[in-house]
Amino acid sequence: MKVHGQPMRTIWVEPDGWSVGIIDQTRLPHAFATLRLTTLEEVAHAIRSMQLRGAPLIGAAAAYGVCLALRGDASNGALEKACTVLAATRPTAINLRWALEEMRRTLQPLSASERVSAAYRRAAALCDEDVAINHGIGTHGLPLLQAAWERKGKQGRINVLTHCNAGWLATVDWGTALAPIYMAHDAGLPVHVWVDETRPRNQGASLTAWELGQHGVPHTVIADNVGGHLMQHGEVDLCIVGTDRTTARGDVANKIGTYLKALAAKDNGVPFYVALPSPTIDWTLDDGVRDIPIEQRDGAELTDISGRLPSGEIVTVRVTPPGSPAANYGFDVTPARLVTALVTERGVCAASPEGLRSLFPERLRGTGT
Ligand code: MRU
Repeated sequence: MKVHGQPMRTIWVEPDGWSVGIIDQTRLPHAFATLRLTTLEEVAHAIRSMQLRGAPLIGAAAAYGVCLALRGDASNGALEKACTVLAATRPTAINLRWALEEMRRTLQPLSASERVSAAYRRAAALCDEDVAINHGIGTHGLPLLQAAWERKGKQGRINVLTHCNAGWLATVDWGTALAPIYMAHDAGLPVHVWVDETRPRNQGASLTAWELGQHGVPHTVIADNVGGHLMQHGEVDLCIVGTDRTTARGDVANKIGTYLKALAAKDNGVPFYVALPSPTIDWTLDDGVRDIPIEQRDGAELTDISGRLPSGEIVTVRVTPPGSPAANYGFDVTPARLVTALVTERGVCAASPEGLRSLFPERLRGTGT
């Protein structure tokens, strides 16, 4: 996508041919800054601290983390250590495990001397695959917005609600949930996006609003608790969100608060779509509520909040009384029964074992359902 009119991805290999560049998402929307990562530890820190975040981008960064680790030592031990360090950064997004398995599968059969160049080739290919997957999700999601427009008799605007950031900042490019929105906007459809602020880290207010603004897509930031009210008053034509892990039966883990949006959508007959890149499917699990690990992060992310003063200074202030404990759950699980459809790079399907296998028949033998 474009930043200040210049096409850009969220992760790249620097001109030196080995170090890795990223956008520092903790500085957005107030500052656009990039970081140069040179070691495994710096990549692991960037994932843990959320300088980069979003399931697909976490996977891509992990692949480059393996590349940086193997530059110093390309032995089996070094490969395993890199995968262990990276796998421990965040628990919910399955793309992390998927990317590390891809790197292992590619590199284990090779001799140490072949591994570094092969690792960089696989990481680069993985990034290109992510871009193609997201473009496919956009292409298959666009007709859903066009259908909503038709349902409205092509009057007014198409009001789409989204939660967290599942845009190009969360991937290598295009985004997942936002890809159909960008394509609809570029096709001249009057799309307007209700952007959930997405407490406590405000991925909606700080990242989704920023990238929609960069692309000129009309949007309005709302408090997380507003979506249900807007649905009751017919102000939402459809919801589309991303996912960090979707099980073989269609249970969807995504940013905390997504489940509550799905409940409100169901109660108001509003279609609730999930944009699902295939690396985000966990074919080993069925019951998402029972089995998907849910990240818990530092309570300070909830008790403190950062923002910009009129002077431009970025400050952090406390919003809770000193001594009040805080619990900071990062994700929740929306059961398949609340999901209208999954939008994948291969097409749109029901959130069910049959639906997923209709698009991924090669998985017929794999799942336990
Ligand atoms: O904690 P985050 O910001 O990494 O959470 C991100 C989300 O929940 C996204 O919706 C999800 O990763 C999909 S990104 C295409």
